[in-house]
This record gives sequence, structure tokens and C-alpha cells, in this order.
Amino acid sequence: MDILTVKDKRFAVSIPEAEIKKHVSRVAAEITRDMDGKKPMFLPVLNGAFVFAADLLREIPIECEVSFIKLASYQGTNSTGQIREVIGLATDITGRHVVIVEDIIDSGLTMAHMIDTLRKHNPASISVCALLLKPDAMKVQVPVDYCCLRIPNDFIIGYGLDYDGLARNTRDIYTLVKE
Ligand code: IMP
Ligand code: MG
Repeated sequence: MDILTVKDKRFAVSIPEAEIKKHVSRVAAEITRDMDGKKPMFLPVLNGAFVFAADLLREIPIECEVSFIKLASYQGTNSTGQIREVIGLATDITGRHVVIVEDIIDSGLTMAHMIDTLRKHNPASISVCALLLKPDAMKVQVPVDYCCLRIPNDFIIGYGLDYDGLARNTRDIYTLVKE
């Protein structure tokens, strides 16, 4: 199915499953090369990264651990608005090589905040692995060590990414059709 209707919006396939798979394999090989012997701790960010993380990690055949984290948004007490808090960091990452696994980096604000938070736990290193990157949307520069695909500044869904909680369960990635 090339067109998907979700609620009031229409989406068209923009990155087919085979294309995603090819780039996930490439990035998995890069991480395998860099992290072999370092027993990395992968931290996929829920909810969006669950599909990507499952595919990526099954292609990384080295000793590693996985622990999921989630971001909670709450209203700040001042006018800066939304502040996001990292929750569920259940594992001690002190001295560990951490690899954050994220679905998409848009403005970069979420990732910048996450890196700041994790750094306080004194890991040996922090690497960022993103399925998708929107270079034209970036407001803060964050180091992206591993990236599957760079995409234009459009709204996308599928393969873990949602529109209002829906459409995470597609094999392909879809882009919003501008009507
Ligand atoms: P950032 O803080 O602006 O980089 O936002 C990153 C987060 O926004 C991602 O982890 C996603 O959850 C969400 N997001 C950004 N762009 C999209 C999109 O095109 N589709 C679905 N979610 C998105
Ligand atoms: Mg996300």
C-alpha cells in the first residue's frame, strides 16, 4: 500500500522497507567495528525507537547490553515551556560506552538534553545513533555518530514513528502528503 490514511491526513511511502534495511545493516556494521570489545550499553529511546532498535541490535553480533529509556515532558515553572526529563535509567552507566538509539533527530533539543543528563552519570563515552536526521530542522548542533538516513524537513511516520500514537506498526516509512 503506497498511500496510508491516518485520521485526517494522507501519507505516501517515502522510504521502502528494503531501503531502510540496507542502511540499518550499514550502521550496524559501523557500530560493530567501533564497539567490539567495549561491551557497549545501548539505550534505545521509547517509544519511537523500538522497531529500529530491534532490527539494529540483531545485526550487531558483539557482547553488549540494552536498557530502554523514555522521555517525560512536563511544564517548566518558568516561561521556557516544555522541559524533558530522562526517566527509566535503571542501569548504572558509570564507566560504560553508551550508545543512544533514537528514531529521529529534528530540532536536536531532545538529544542535547539527553546527552547532558547522561553525562552526569560519568559514562566512558556517549555515542548517538539515529535512524533519521532532518539537517534543515536542527536548532542545536548535536554530534550524530551513526545515522541511517538524512531526510528533508517533512513530517514522517511508520517503522516506529507515529502520528498521534498511530502508524508505528508499518514496515515502510511514509511522508505526509501536502494537500
Ligand atoms: P527534537 O527534540 O526536535 O529533535 O525532536 C525529536 C523527537 O520528535 C523525536 O524523537 C520524535 O519523537 C519526534 N519527531 C520529530 N520529527 C518527527 C516526525 O517527522 N514524525 C514523528 N515524530 C517526530
Ligand atoms: Mg523519539
